Amino acid sequence: MSDNATLEIQGKRYSLPLIVGSEQEMALDISRLRAESACITLDNGFGNTGSCESAITFLNGEKGILHYRGYPIEQLAEKSVFQEVAYLLYYGELPSQSELNLFKQKVASYSSLPQGIYNIIDQFPLEAHPMGVVSAAVSALSAFYPEFINPTSLSQADIDRAIAQLMGQIKIIIAYFFRRTQSQAPVPSDPSLIYAADFLNMLQGGEGNPIDPEVADALDTLLILHADHEQNCSTSTVRVIGSSKANIFATVSGGIDALWGQLHGGANQAVLEMLNEIQNNGGDYQKYLHKAKDKNDPFRLMGFGHRVYKNFDPRAKIIKNACDSVLQKLGIHDPLLDIARGLEEQALKDPYFIERHLYPNVDFYSGIIYQALGIPANMFTTMFAMGRMPGWLSQWKEMRASEATRIARPRQVYIGATARDYVAINQR
Ligand code: CMC
Repeated sequence: MSDNATLEIQGKRYSLPLIVGSEQEMALDISRLRAESACITLDNGFGNTGSCESAITFLNGEKGILHYRGYPIEQLAEKSVFQEVAYLLYYGELPSQSELNLFKQKVASYSSLPQGIYNIIDQFPLEAHPMGVVSAAVSALSAFYPEFINPTSLSQADIDRAIAQLMGQIKIIIAYFFRRTQSQAPVPSDPSLIYAADFLNMLQGGEGNPIDPEVADALDTLLILHADHEQNCSTSTVRVIGSSKANIFATVSGGIDALWGQLHGGANQAVLEMLNEIQNNGGDYQKYLHKAKDKNDPFRLMGFGHRVYKNFDPRAKIIKNACDSVLQKLGIHDPLLDIARGLEEQALKDPYFIERHLYPNVDFYSGIIYQALGIPANMFTTMFAMGRMPGWLSQWKEMRASEATRIARPRQVYIGATARDYVAINQR
């Protein structure tokens, strides 16, 4: 269905095509607006701006709905595995068993890094933040695979290879750096394991230390929940960088950097730090709720609120349950979980949070699970990056294939000084 909307600017009327998506979402196509009216739109933070048409992920923030390629996240989290979901995101359909096997083989064929990348990672201080290391290592891959430098010359087979390669190599990069920080030798990848189990095995396994399959399944579910989230900050970054025809490694590296911020993926680390701080200050979470509401205090309740979800974050619901079962399975009683539950309970009753539709988001409980799995807090956001890789690559692939793609280049409303003459330095 398509229709038109009319916009009146200073007495003159403009007709704007009305675009309706497959889930009945509506958008005004303003692509001719400036040419016809000399007027642009202003939308700080892009809260009302659609940057593309996409067939990958649908979310409805008012109803708490998230679908990958039409499949509800709840079903995928319960029934699928991460690599199957990754295939779905990349190729649009769930794979047959043989397609999935082939895809896994391709990813497994990238279970090591060029020696130069190991050397680069070895140069980082042990206390370096892992997100910086992962971003740098991913960007550095471009030096070792120059055939990917010019994205305009990539064939479909090259794109398939880039996808398998980045999925395979990101887990090696993260695990290799982690082992180094622990002064432990790397554990080789084991392609017979599911993705999350292989990663955990490289992180903490090895001979005589098998990974509990239920624990690996919990991480696999977390990866599924993080796999895509339509045009979020890091994915938009990937699309913006990719639109300039930068190479895929530089493009994804930029996405990793955007994810690092504490308002985005970095929130999972920030939540755990906040919970620790509350615990160290006697566990009085009421005090922190007051701080979060105080407009003179920059403190925010980390892991709460979302630009799009205004009812609940469906991923947070699943993660909260997974958190309970992982801790129970591992026989861990984590007092931070009690604090998190208490905070959530109080916040959900508080008019400040109710009026602003602030609910726990995907990052609120995930850190407690990562901590139970023995992953240090500064590594949490790398888990998010590993999970988000299929989303970034699928969106990049879709962007490349779309005839509508142009270099991303927003405009601005200039509010600086108007034209004036240069003043010589001795006359200022
Ligand atoms: N604690 C206290 N107040 C909050 C919070 C919070 N976590 N989040 C939003 N608000 C208030 C905000 O102060 C504003 O109040 P007012 O209308 O009185 O000025 C109102 O709620 C609307 O907030 P906003 O900043 O305009 O909302 P936004 O859509 O620009 O920001 C957000 C969304 C996720 C950045 C924000 O909610 C936030 O900072 N949350 C904490 C960080 C976090 O958990 N980030 C992870 C997001 S989910 C995963 C991901 O994207 O990676």
